[in-house]
Amino acid sequence: MRSHYCGQVNESLVGQSVTLCGWVNRRRDLGGLIFIDLRDVKGLVQVVVDPDFEALFETANKLKHEFCIQLSGTVRARPESQVNKNMATGAVEILASELTILNSSDVLPIDMGGHQNNSEEQRLKYRYLDLRRPDMTNKIKFRAKVTSEIRNYLDSNDFLDIETPILTKATPEGARDYLVPSRTHKGQFFALPQSPQLFKQLLMMSGMDRYYQIVKCFRDEDLRADRQPEFTQIDIETSFMSADEVMAITEDMVRKLFVKLLDIDLGDFPKMTYAEAMTKYGSDKPDLRIALEMVDVADLLKDVEFKVFSGPANDPKGRVAALKVPGGADKFSRKDIDELTKFVGIYGAKGLAWLKVNDLDKGMEGLQSPILKFLPEDVAKGILDRVEAQTGDIIFFGSDKYTVVSEAIGALRLKVGEQLGLVEDAWKPLWVVDFPMFEEYEGGLTPLHHPFTAPVGVTAEALKANPEKTLSNAYDMVLNGCEVGGGSVRIHQQDMQSAVFDILGIGEEEAEEKFGFLLDALKFGAPPHAGLAFGLDRLVMLMTGATSIRDVMAFPKTTTAACPLTNAPGFANPDQIKELGIQTLPAEKA
Ligand code: AMO
Ligand code: AMP
Repeated sequence: MRSHYCGQVNESLVGQSVTLCGWVNRRRDLGGLIFIDLRDVKGLVQVVVDPDFEALFETANKLKHEFCIQLSGTVRARPESQVNKNMATGAVEILASELTILNSSDVLPIDMGGHQNNSEEQRLKYRYLDLRRPDMTNKIKFRAKVTSEIRNYLDSNDFLDIETPILTKATPEGARDYLVPSRTHKGQFFALPQSPQLFKQLLMMSGMDRYYQIVKCFRDEDLRADRQPEFTQIDIETSFMSADEVMAITEDMVRKLFVKLLDIDLGDFPKMTYAEAMTKYGSDKPDLRIALEMVDVADLLKDVEFKVFSGPANDPKGRVAALKVPGGADKFSRKDIDELTKFVGIYGAKGLAWLKVNDLDKGMEGLQSPILKFLPEDVAKGILDRVEAQTGDIIFFGSDKYTVVSEAIGALRLKVGEQLGLVEDAWKPLWVVDFPMFEEYEGGLTPLHHPFTAPVGVTAEALKANPEKTLSNAYDMVLNGCEVGGGSVRIHQQDMQSAVFDILGIGEEEAEEKFGFLLDALKFGAPPHAGLAFGLDRLVMLMTGATSIRDVMAFPKTTTAACPLTNAPGFANPDQIKELGIQTLPAEKA
């Protein structure tokens, strides 16, 4: 139906006839002429309709926003004064000679100009229109380039693209499962995979050596800007490779991807231990674009009278940390600090103590703080020395349980960094390594990654004796404060896998019922194996500068995990429900 794409018409075609198909981006009537900006997947081109072509002009007069048309015409150079440098095709225009309306369009329910004028709900309800906007089209096109490059890289490194089941058993990755009732096994359910973790391990036990899959994963969890209930992983597994080897090859893949698509060299990724990340940044995915660092000060505050500090300072599970903001003393009013106190409250912090260093040379006189009266002079000096304070700085303090302080002050670091424009315009990748195997959760232990992650350097017996002190052979790739990928060396010996289940309080019977197939498979010469999975959506979000993964997914869900376009989820037909052998409770009123 066409000879060229709109976005491809350029000066090399001047004098030639072209036939284009696309949508009316804009129609303007100027000085008796009609100008149409015609748009397709590759861009926009300007078309001129002259009143001398009477029938054509009449049809052009009927055109409205987003009519779908086919037109033919001659390409001509625009006069110098009318060249539009902001448009790829801005040096030319097309003098139309034929025009067919392929389809009209009703008045549009969303503003096609900029998405800031549309609610998220409207954008998703009319996603097919939202995606026509060049900004969105380009993001989806970029995503396709990313998957194509990744496939090329992995294919040429002997990775096999292998599909794994979607109707399967629960794979524990820390979220709730999406369940699918079975008609043929009434009362029983499939789970949609939270990841293909167990199947990719089984593929290594099948001798496939190197596997990858660009695959949908399903997790029923609280949604945020970087979390969706169904999202895509670049899932990778290898046999006979060490953690360092997996990190090297996947780092090389990401580095090459950035060079190829963005012309950006990420350089070598530094490695940072989990302990260092938590200590300095209060996060296992530190954003290294912000130079601010947390400093522990509990040891200095053990004996102060102020219980808010001395309590956690003397509690082995407590933490007292300071965050110095250089030059921040005159940047935060009382009102600003009240706002920040509310902000850290989201993370459970009960307050936000602060200290302004108005004049370092004046000793206590030069300090300003609501907690000054609780700080003996030597303690105050100890803190100032520890954080290397200078005149003009402000120091914030968090004092509470370790996780509360880490999360609250870690989040404050990001917030203040953004507020004061301290986020460096740079790419800061890193690997976070040496994670603990387990963390405390509701009185028991839960894996920091998943229960198939191998510990570092211990026997099954030693692990059982000291689970909380054992590190895992896991690694996360972090880019600008976003966890883009994570993986580990896996357990390939049955006794170790059983020990981990045991530590997690999964009894023999439950282990057999849930993971018997894995425990069995480990008995028959399972090779050492290791792998990793990237969040494709997150990677594309970062690479395109999008602020949410929803903007790089064609059909994402809302933050309540619904689809306004199709109205999914929906009620099922009672006959269907009966056939499935299940019953539903009456829907709760909203
Ligand atoms: P993990 O759970 O860390 O590991 O997931 C791997 C990567 O997937 C992305 N991701 C998400 N992206 C969007 N929405 C979500 N809800 C979501 N959850 C995770 C993140 C994350 O780094 N099987 C292991 C991997 C392995 O050990 O090989 C796994 O799934 O970018
Ligand atoms: P209060 O004695 O509760 O009025 O607190 C005195 C100062 O300590 C205020 O600036 C509070 O914001 C701060 N504060 C209270 N609790 C904490 C806490 N857990 N961590 C850090 N600062 C706190």
